[in-house]
Amino acid sequence: MSRTLPKQLLPFIWHFLKGYKFFVVTFAFLALLTGSWAPLNSILIKYMIDVLGKVQQSHMSAQIIWLAVFFLLNFGIHNLCWRSLEYLNYRFQPVIKNQIISETFDYVHGQTQQFFQDNLAGRIASQINTIADNLERIIHELSQHILRTLSQLVVAFISMYSVHPSFFYILLTWFLVFTVLSLRLSKRFIHLSEHHAASEAIVSGQLVDSITNANNVRIFSRKAYEKSYLEKALLVTEKTFREKEIYILKLSFLQGSSLAIMIGMMLFFLIDLRIKQKVSIGDFALILGLAVQVGYMIWWGMEQVQAVNKAIGKCKQSLMRLLTPWEIKDREDARPLQVEKGEITFSGVRFGYRDSQLFFQNKSVTIAGDQKVGLVGYSGSGKSTFINLILRLYEPTSGSIFIDGQNIRECTQESLRGAIAMIPQDPSLFHRSLMENIRYGRISATDEEVIDAAKRAHAHEFIAQLPEGYNALVGERGVKLSGGQRQRIAIARAILKAAPILILDEATSQLDSVTESLIQESLWPLMRGKTAIVIAHRLSTLLHMDRILVFDQGKIVEDGSHEVLLAQKGLYRTLWDAQIGGFLPDRRVEDCSVKRKKIEPGT
Ligand SMILES: Nc1ncnc2c1ncn2[C@@H]1O[C@H](COP(=O)(O)OP(=O)(O)O)[C@@H](O)[C@H]1O
Ligand SMILES: [Mg+2]
Repeated sequence: MSRTLPKQLLPFIWHFLKGYKFFVVTFAFLALLTGSWAPLNSILIKYMIDVLGKVQQSHMSAQIIWLAVFFLLNFGIHNLCWRSLEYLNYRFQPVIKNQIISETFDYVHGQTQQFFQDNLAGRIASQINTIADNLERIIHELSQHILRTLSQLVVAFISMYSVHPSFFYILLTWFLVFTVLSLRLSKRFIHLSEHHAASEAIVSGQLVDSITNANNVRIFSRKAYEKSYLEKALLVTEKTFREKEIYILKLSFLQGSSLAIMIGMMLFFLIDLRIKQKVSIGDFALILGLAVQVGYMIWWGMEQVQAVNKAIGKCKQSLMRLLTPWEIKDREDARPLQVEKGEITFSGVRFGYRDSQLFFQNKSVTIAGDQKVGLVGYSGSGKSTFINLILRLYEPTSGSIFIDGQNIRECTQESLRGAIAMIPQDPSLFHRSLMENIRYGRISATDEEVIDAAKRAHAHEFIAQLPEGYNALVGERGVKLSGGQRQRIAIARAILKAAPILILDEATSQLDSVTESLIQESLWPLMRGKTAIVIAHRLSTLLHMDRILVFDQGKIVEDGSHEVLLAQKGLYRTLWDAQIGGFLPDRRVEDCSVKRKKIEPGT
């Protein structure tokens, strides 16, 4: 799990290419070879024209036959090189792309809870795709087109120089002026493109927002309003698109005109030199052919460079966001956690979420193995935080947490989380079948074991009623199930996992009381012989606990059995006295009474 990925673009690219050195070298070589094809063609045509011009009688000279053979050979080799390039591309491109996606995905899953709270899931997924798509593009453009253009340029420059240095200088001057001008002017184009991209992003954001809220749109019958709201954003994209395209039109006109001027100058010199008999007819054709060819090649190459630049920018941005260092990492010498008793100790732990108040403040607590502990307190008092720290989803600011005497900081995260079965308050499900969702607790479980766990979690009843039963898909995050049904699936998962430590974070809060008491009955045997921590709001659950920890504003303020705590007349007693219908209050009594007072006059 301690694998890292380079965050800088070039080392990142090399990380994936270094396993394919043979591919990289062959690819580059073939690209260079294909580049020289076009100017070589022009050179051969020049010689053929010159030879044919000299031949008086109509007979085939050996020279012309050889030239024709070379000409065809050049064609054949070019064809072969191109097809080999394409073959290598088909062969390796998907492999490398998949490797990029899979390794980045794996790395991102090593990020902390905080990372996923700070970054939207959709954004993360699209950034992984951005990296893969653009990297593929960069590698392709660099290795194929840009290398090819380079070799074509070199051959063209040399042949021009060999005919007459003035052609070389004209081409060089034009090349320099063209490149500098294009790069400078394209800055504004990039700016306009970004403008356009931003306006398109707003449209797609609005589409997602509106469709996510489809329910609201229907309830308030705001279909027409939504359409006009979207059309405003669409108008902006139209405007930015037009601005961008008109600018590129002007830029291309300028570039095309400069090309015409360069070719005009070449033509002028060619005619002049031909009149003075300093160049042959073949040279004439060669220079003119090369000038047009190279001119367009550079023009096109410029666009490629800009496209690559853009892709580089996108990649860098995504890499920076996704490949931030893992905040919680296994140590080099991390050992697997060995659980025998399941004793959990908080020793001098202090913890605070970013910039917020500190929790626990050095309080030391030990939960003995096999003990059943209930956590109670108002909402926001730190109960879930206490559990998050045991699971090492967050790291204490100071102090340590031990399980059976082993500091969890020194154990592998996988073994730690493998030893704990956790049922969260609002479990989410994968958009996979119910069978797969339950089996997530133990991947090796058989269908029978999955069904047995579902029966014990009282999920079997409703699953059996679904038309597709255990094969039913439950929608993204499980939206097609009710909160209580999702909780029952989560309980079945935990039953399958059969870990030595069991944690329930208000695991039955969304169930009706009949189902809840049924599930409680199946949970008690599950807890037997295990350490269990239960965040509960139902008094009947607390009565079963060996011990209760009372939380208030991030501190454990009381600790003892139900009877002892009741006798203490502290916060637990207050909570107990304020119970409503068998539940502990969620907010302070004062808050509740204020609310009640506000409601009373109207009722
Ligand atoms: N990821 C987080 N980042 C910042 N603050 C958080 C985060 N999670 C919880 N908190 C804050 O910490 C406090 C305790 O939360 P929590 O432990 O979830 O309470 P409980 O489970 O007792 O209701 C709350 O004030 C909550 O707003
Ligand atoms: Mg909570």
